[in-house]
Amino acid sequence: MYNLLKGKKGIIFGALDNNSIAWKVAERAHEEGASFVLTNAPIAMRMGEINELAAKTNSQVIPADATSMEDLENLVEKSMEILGGKIDFVLHSIGMSVNVRKGKHYTDPSYDFTTKGWDVSAVSFHKVMNVLYHKKAMNEWGSIVALSYMAAQRVFPDYNDMADNKAYLESIARSFGYFFGRDFKVRVNTISQSPTKTTAGSGVKGFSGFLAYAEKMSPLGNATALECADYTISLFSDLTKKVTLQNLFHDGGFSNMGISDVIMDKFNE
Ligand code: NAI
Repeated sequence: MYNLLKGKKGIIFGALDNNSIAWKVAERAHEEGASFVLTNAPIAMRMGEINELAAKTNSQVIPADATSMEDLENLVEKSMEILGGKIDFVLHSIGMSVNVRKGKHYTDPSYDFTTKGWDVSAVSFHKVMNVLYHKKAMNEWGSIVALSYMAAQRVFPDYNDMADNKAYLESIARSFGYFFGRDFKVRVNTISQSPTKTTAGSGVKGFSGFLAYAEKMSPLGNATALECADYTISLFSDLTKKVTLQNLFHDGGFSNMGISDVIMDKFNE
């Protein structure tokens, strides 16, 4: 370990269980010397798994529904009290489509579900940044990261309305990132991660085929949750101070591929 986050303070959203990308980020941040608060929606804490992570990483848990401004205000205030000062890094690792959950096709959604989905998956990022911005809660040269997926740029039919939610999320990172950079020297980026076996990932129809296809298309293979955590740590560290307003592909090269030998061979059989 490299002590990359020594003395840094953070808030980590979205660790549901030990498959979650946020779970791995928390473990890696702890190894790199950070202290942080863990948070998730109250309903996601029923299983209590997050307490295991909290014990392991010496951190406290504050429940917050990321769509509730009241919850977020309480979270940010309490986090600064617990951590003894302003925040250096924030991970937004939150996504959910009600249309996907309820099996609604992209061409015929329930628009109430669509609204709920974009609130949870995209607007929540705006709300988190709104609270951090107006409470002046971020230290200079802090870093805010959200997780995205390439369906924001290209068509993956079964990704459903999460594709639109991710496009919205990435746009918010740029738009809010401008004000955060100008006013607080804080950077804001999204990481566009390979398909990864987690609760949210497995909700996508045909996920295992999808995973195998991406694996065979990418020269370096799919990026794992732990590798995503490593990349996230680099963005929280002082080694990436001038990287901002970016959507950064962390996908083993998938996003720039047209065809790979392995996939081509399948059509020449
Ligand atoms: P996960 O299911 O472990 O994490 C999703 C988290 O969102 C859960 O902890 C859940 O409790 C939280 N959440 C849902 N509604 C919430 C709310 N109202 N308030 C606060 N938290 C809420 O799955 P994963 O894969 O770790 O997801 C993390 C992020 O990574 C998501 O943004 C996801 O879209 C993104 N991502 C995942 C990929 C995958 O294939 N698993 C690929 C690319 C991006």
